[in-house]
Amino acid sequence: MTDSSEVPSALVDPTGRQYAILIVDDEEGIRESLELTLGDDYRVFTAKNAQEGLDVLEREPIALVIADQVLPGMTGVEFLEKVIERNPTAIRMMLTGYADVASIVRAVNEGRIYRYIPKPWEPAELRVNVRRALESYSLATENASLAAALRDANERLRQENLYLRREVARKYAFESLIGTAPSMLRVFEVMEKVAQTDATVLLSGETGTGKDLVARAIHYAGTRKSARFVAQNCGALPDTLLESELFGHKRGSFTGAHEDKKGLFELAHAGTIFLDEIGETNPGMQVRLLRVLQDGEIRPLGASDVRRVDVRVIAATNRDLRKMVQDGTFREDLYYRLRVVEITIPPLRERREDIPALAHHFLEDANKRMGRQIKGFTNAAMDRLVGHEWSGNVRELENEVERIVALAGDADLINLEMLSEHVRGRPALDESPADVEIDASDLNVAVDELKRKLIRQALEETGSKSKASEKLGIPRQSLQKMMKRLGMRDAAGD
Ligand SMILES: Nc1ncnc2c1ncn2[C@@H]1O[C@H](COP(=O)(O)OP(=O)(O)OP(=O)(O)O)[C@@H](O)[C@H]1O
Ligand SMILES: [Mg+2]
Repeated sequence: MTDSSEVPSALVDPTGRQYAILIVDDEEGIRESLELTLGDDYRVFTAKNAQEGLDVLEREPIALVIADQVLPGMTGVEFLEKVIERNPTAIRMMLTGYADVASIVRAVNEGRIYRYIPKPWEPAELRVNVRRALESYSLATENASLAAALRDANERLRQENLYLRREVARKYAFESLIGTAPSMLRVFEVMEKVAQTDATVLLSGETGTGKDLVARAIHYAGTRKSARFVAQNCGALPDTLLESELFGHKRGSFTGAHEDKKGLFELAHAGTIFLDEIGETNPGMQVRLLRVLQDGEIRPLGASDVRRVDVRVIAATNRDLRKMVQDGTFREDLYYRLRVVEITIPPLRERREDIPALAHHFLEDANKRMGRQIKGFTNAAMDRLVGHEWSGNVRELENEVERIVALAGDADLINLEMLSEHVRGRPALDESPADVEIDASDLNVAVDELKRKLIRQALEETGSKSKASEKLGIPRQSLQKMMKRLGMRDAAGD
């Protein structure tokens, strides 16, 4: 142990600088001898009492403190406790002149002292111990700087997250909703009022009328905006999966449930859950949803306990729920729980005055995304857009404009010829089939117009394609093909 060849070389800090060591002892001889042992390898500072020692700590980045067990006016342990307050990362060692085991053990056990050094000491052994102490110091500080880097990174992420949230909020704030038609102004008015409450909202409207957008706008305009908005399409999943998505599950509760999973109702805590296509839910799911709405409680699949949730519910459907209640396919009690506030978004063909603004909005959007500079529409093209039936509503208009921009090259204005064939060839039909004004110059166009009108009516009346096909006296598949050929959107589902 005393053979100096076994003594490892001194340790330097990550910048290559010698570590700083503080020695506190009232005996000059001890200070000098320690300085002699360590002074070549480290920057050694000495102090003859506690106060001097603390002064050095204020000024120097001390890595190791060696203090005598007895100092003028206080014990070494008391002094080292003060050291912790100033420099918690410095390693602490204590010199002890007598083997008072009990007090040494107490000092070490208090976890405050790295080790004690008995007097007299062996210089080589002391050097080894100091080096070990500094190794653990360098590990600890490295860990601390890693932790600090991690904290910084986390903070940056948090900021970014905040920024993204604000972006999203901006995107879905009311400003993103275009419309000045009186029917839309009424929608906005109700939205604004309901956003400030926790009331359950039922959004109804044909496909593509903006139910999604409205749901988000309500969330981001309200008090829950800093918590999450989660959406689930209730028509998209088989029963068990939907239940597990919404309510979560315990491990092993069904094939494929390999671990516990939280459901959207729990993830949306303090926020909003958007139940899209609520009309597609089966009776079992309807009961479970009723329970959440009534009691604010959910039970994950396979769990024995129920959990309370604080979630605002917005549901949407393009079906006629009232009719489904009458037909016995949708629970009446659930229907009333959902439609605390009902917002019906009118189809685009009933608010044609909004079409120009929407078309320009989508044009600007597509220009930006595709790097185009199309300035607008010719009068004839806009007239046709305004006159079109838009069975796919705003989404269909959005797709139409996007398609045109994609194909328009460097055109200045969008003209009639650029519109897709079914938009160009089919004027609006607001009249009843009997008094449709038929352009007799083209029999095929006229017949198609009539077919569209009749199909639309049948769908509206029956609410499903199977029933509409019965009513029209054709097989369901033929109806589907015919609708496709006529460019009709699938509004009724099933
Ligand atoms: N008033 C509006 N202003 C601007 N954009 C709109 C408006 N309404 C709808 N949109 C846009 O039209 C598209 C369709 O809207 P959304 O997805 O909200 O319809 P939806 O009613 O949920 O349809 P579906 O029943 O098929 O789910 C979206 O891209 C949406 O941003
Ligand atoms: Mg939708």
